[in-house]
Amino acid sequence: MRKKIVAGNWKMHKNAEQTEDLLNELIAKLPTVSEAQVIVAPTFVNLASAVAHLEFTTIEVAAQNVHQAESGAFTGEVSADMLKSVGVNYVILGHSERRAIFKETDALIANKVDTSLKHELTVIFCFGEELKDRQTGNHFNVVENQLTDGLFQIEKESWPNVILAYEPVWAIGTGETASPEQAQEMHEFIRETVRKAFGKEIAEEVSILYGGSVKPENAKEIFSKPDVDGGLIGGAALKADDFVAIVTAI
Ligand code: G3P
Repeated sequence: MRKKIVAGNWKMHKNAEQTEDLLNELIAKLPTVSEAQVIVAPTFVNLASAVAHLEFTTIEVAAQNVHQAESGAFTGEVSADMLKSVGVNYVILGHSERRAIFKETDALIANKVDTSLKHELTVIFCFGEELKDRQTGNHFNVVENQLTDGLFQIEKESWPNVILAYEPVWAIGTGETASPEQAQEMHEFIRETVRKAFGKEIAEEVSILYGGSVKPENAKEIFSKPDVDGGLIGGAALKADDFVAIVTAI
């Protein structure tokens, strides 16, 4: 049975005190029993305290990035071993903001994926087309290439540590959500692409999350689609009541 997952990508928001306040609200308001695995992704500086704060809950903590090297003269960077050493077991990779703003290429992302899996981090692999790709009917090609060039180098055995997150760039932070039908169509294509490359079992088992302006008012319909296994949430993850509403929409 595929895992249902709702992950909150906090991006560059919430200092130490604000992180503690939001986590306290989530601990108080999230249902103790839920269909969904809940993951929160604060910034690097708040990961260790978040792990400690969530120790007696089932909420997991993810990093928003990791460096591909084991260690070295990479000022400002954080390694996979450092993440594991503070109890972080998940990492978001390939986010469109990492690709667009920080110029991360498919090859670099593939390198980060390999290092993360080697350290037994579960990778939340993000990918998705830009508006121009969809407008020109090229969105399936773009998504297939991002999967092939960024992720498909991994071993079959690594797939239990992979979560896919389809995030159409034109829906991120814009309030312009993909329709449930658009999400399902692309998720179905993604699952078929994984099946062709890695076989039916892996394709059926991998969770595929949708991300891009998921809100309490649209979550239920999007999550109801057969190939949508949850969401990767940005803005709505920063407000406890909205994030809780999205989790309970699974
Ligand atoms: O990683 C999730 C994020 O990119 C989606 O952002 O604000 O559109 O939910 P948002």
